[in-house]
This record gives sequence, structure tokens and C-alpha cells, in this order.
Amino acid sequence: MNGPITFRENARADVDPMQGIFTSQFNRIAGGLVDEAPVWILDTTLRDGEQTPGIALSIDQKIQIAQALDELGVDVIEAGFPITSNGEAEAVKRVASLGLNARVCGLARCRKEDIDAVLGCGVDYVHTFIATSDTHLKYKLKMTRDQVMEKAVSMIEYAKDHGATVEFSCEDATRTDLEFLKAMHVAVQEAGVDRINVPDTVGVIAPSAMEYLIGELMTVTKVPIAVHCHDDFGLAVANSLAAVQAGARQVHVCVNGLGERAGNAALEEVVMGLLAFQGRRTNVHTEKIGSVSKTVSRITGYPIPHNKAVVGNNAFAHESGIHVHGVQGDPSTYEAFSPELVGMHRNIVMGKHSGAHSVKEKLKEMGMDLPPDQLTEVVEAIKHLAESGKEVDEAELVALSNAIAGMKGIERMVSLEEFAVFTGANITPTAMMALNIDGEVHKGSEIGIGPVDAALKAIKSVAGDMDLEEYRLDAITGGSDSLCEVTISLRDDRMDKRSVGRSVGADIIQTSVEAAIEAVNRLFISRKG
Ligand code: KIV
Ligand code: ZN
Repeated sequence: MNGPITFRENARADVDPMQGIFTSQFNRIAGGLVDEAPVWILDTTLRDGEQTPGIALSIDQKIQIAQALDELGVDVIEAGFPITSNGEAEAVKRVASLGLNARVCGLARCRKEDIDAVLGCGVDYVHTFIATSDTHLKYKLKMTRDQVMEKAVSMIEYAKDHGATVEFSCEDATRTDLEFLKAMHVAVQEAGVDRINVPDTVGVIAPSAMEYLIGELMTVTKVPIAVHCHDDFGLAVANSLAAVQAGARQVHVCVNGLGERAGNAALEEVVMGLLAFQGRRTNVHTEKIGSVSKTVSRITGYPIPHNKAVVGNNAFAHESGIHVHGVQGDPSTYEAFSPELVGMHRNIVMGKHSGAHSVKEKLKEMGMDLPPDQLTEVVEAIKHLAESGKEVDEAELVALSNAIAGMKGIERMVSLEEFAVFTGANITPTAMMALNIDGEVHKGSEIGIGPVDAALKAIKSVAGDMDLEEYRLDAITGGSDSLCEVTISLRDDRMDKRSVGRSVGADIIQTSVEAAIEAVNRLFISRKG
């Protein structure tokens, strides 16, 4: 069923780990940078992450997340805790049968029935755990230290006898008596364990203490050490990095920092922190981090906080004139690392701190070039709106600029000649589109999930290389005859350009088409500039 543990060594040796990262030179002086073998990432989004209050994933959702994690390049996917329910076991079974590059593991208490449940899913990597702190022994397990040790040893032997790769965790390790913890490590090693995880189950250790603890455990542990940190004091990532600094070889993480209570160490922060502060590679394709974070957020229904490190909307957003000016001179002035490294984009945000320079750049990015007097008017209007508490997003900026500049701000290269949409019951929605581009009529047709989808795809098929970044539909008045407002953002990744179009009307399909064509016009213009 399994072979020896195989993990990729230096799979990403092609990448210069420090390119595009602009951290403090004191990290190097303090001896933080050591370039050694890659650190393995065990992702537990599907297990500890699913224990986040309010998250329950269907089998299909688990499969989608597992596939995304595999493409991201994590080494191990903890797919679930099979003994907990038939549905959970089925999900783990299905993930295990996907034929992923990542190893798939299942969680088991130190009990035969738990281990059988993992093995019964066709999984050959068992992560088994038992609590070892006196608090857990007394109030939860009602067992002695000797009994706990005996249980762990016999269950590891049982799993090994069944051919599994076994990772073992002393639950609540960071509140366990050090001598007993060391004795546990020695005993489970003798039982044949492959890897020992050190969980900070309640998130109660500080980074310096974690470094000390792992250093101590390294003196008796010959198999690779992993860490599993919770974020109760907001230190999960710092503790994980400290553990690696002291010799840990694997880190347990969850995408977006999901997990029990305050969550686990966030995958995106650990991976980038290891690179930036310790020069340590992982097998993660960092440029996929942004999209995997969004996928997990969409599927779990857990929003990514705007100010979340690495993957939040604001992580690479700049509002104040001074910062925008600096970043335009050289991004390293106000960015710790390049957004492209993690598949994110720089964003110039309009607000009360915006200066004429940033507004001009932002408008240019969206295909509008205003003369200085109109630009000053737009800046004043933005500040006025922002001070009265109104958010000035890209669509708002476009509307404002249109109002001030009339349509002079937009040169039109693309206009609608005709379109038709066919939809109804038992018919695949289909759209036909004819656009006049620079005086020449181009036609195309597409099918879609609905009529709007078909129409937007037809526009794309005619207008060419661009992706729909965002589609927003707002009802302006109530009732079935209400006006709707559609905002569409388009992106051209090849040329790193984006644009926004907005339209208001009574017919959702027509209004969507108009907004899309406005955005297409702006994209065409910004490509020229
Ligand atoms: O936090 C924890 O201790 C765990 C164990 C199962 C490793 O999640
Ligand atoms: Zn945990």
C-alpha cells in the first residue's frame, strides 16, 4: 500500500527564493537566513480548517480544495478525520483516490477503530495523536502518563504493521512536562514512527520558547519534526517560523489561517515568511497562492479580511499620495515583496489621502486621460466623498470622472452593432454578438450558464484576450421593473492592464452588455497607452 516516505527535495531549485522580496537586512545579520533543504508543508485545511466554527464542506467541495492544494504544491494533504462520520470517511476516500502528487493523510486518535477508519479509506499516511499534558490527562483522558505512552506505542506499532506511514502528535505538547515529552518522542521512535509533530494545541507558546522547545526535542528525535501552531495569541506563524529555525522540517498550515478557534498558521504567511526570513524554500508554487486563497474563501464562505497579510485586498493597496508616488518610483519603497510572487496585484486605491498623481495613474490604468483642470476636480470630488464616509471604488471613480469630463475622457474604439440572446426552458443559453471595432464589424456567438454569461462570453470571443475579473449586479429600485446597475472589471494579464465599466438600465442582459463594452473600450485604450 505504501513505500518509504518520499518527499521532494529541492523541487523548486529553479526559483531564486529572494527575488522580489525586500525585507530588512537585519534578518541576515541576526543569522536568520539559512538556505537548506525545503521545508515540507502539511496542509490541514480539510481537517483542522473544517473545524473552523461555521464551516462544513461537502464531498465535492473537499475534492475541489484538495485539487487546488495539490496544484499549489503542498506535500501532504490532511483530508479529514474518517472515524467522525460516514460522510467524512467517504470524502477522505474520494480525495485519496484522486491520484494527487501530494501525500494524503487521515487523522486518528490512538485507537484501533480510528486507525482502521483511515486505512479503510485507502489512505496510507496515518496522523495519530494522544494528549500528553497533565491538564489533558487529568480532565479529559483520565489516564496516567504510562498508560498514554503505552497506548501511543501500541497504536503506532499497529499502524506500522498495516504498512502505513505514521506521523504522531503529543496533543498539547507545549504544556507537557519536557522530560515526559522527550520520553514520548523516544518511545514512539522505537515503535517505528516516521515523523513526530509538536502541536501548540491551544496557541500558548511564544516564539522564543518554541525555538527552545524544538531545540530540546531535536536532541532526542531522529525522525523529522513537524509543528502545528494555533493562533490564539496571533503567533501561529511566528511560532512555526521559530520551530523551523530550531530544526523542524515540516509545518502544518491552513489556507487563509482557517482552523479551530482563532485558526492555524496561515499557509500563505508561513510559506512567504520561510522564504523571506530564513531563505527556506517549500514546494509551493507561490504564484498560485492568491487564487487558491480565493478558491478556499469562496468554497468555505469565509471572507478574506481586507487587511489579511499576503492575500487580503489591501495587502498591495496604496492610497496615500506619498506611498503611491513611492511605489511608482520603485515598488520596494512600500512593498515587502512583489504581488506577482503570490499571484496578487498592486492596487491604487482612491480615498481622502489620494493625490493628483495617484488619481491620474489610476485613471490611465482604466483607459482615461483627463486634462489637469478636470483631474483637480476629480481629486476634490474624491476627497469630498471619502470624507463623508463614502467608499470610492473603481466604478465610482469612473462614474465621477465621466460626470466631470463628460464623455471626453473616453475615446470609443468599440461599439455595439447588434446582439441577440436565446434562452428559455430546456435550451442552452446562447448569445450572438456583433461589435464594431475600429470601423470593422466582428461577429461571434457563445453558449453560457445563463443569458448574461453567454452574452459576456460572446463579447470576449469577439473582443479578444481578456478575462472577466468581477461582475457586480445591484438593484437600484425594488420590484420586478426595477433599474439595475452592473459593474464589470476586465483584466488583461498579458499586458497587466485592467479596466472597469458601469451601466444602469432596466434590462439586466442589455445593461451587462453595455457595461462590458464600456470596460472593453477602456481596456483597448489603456493597452495603447
Ligand atoms: O491542535 C492540535 O493539537 C491538533 C492535533 C490533532 C494535532 O489539531
Ligand atoms: Zn489543531
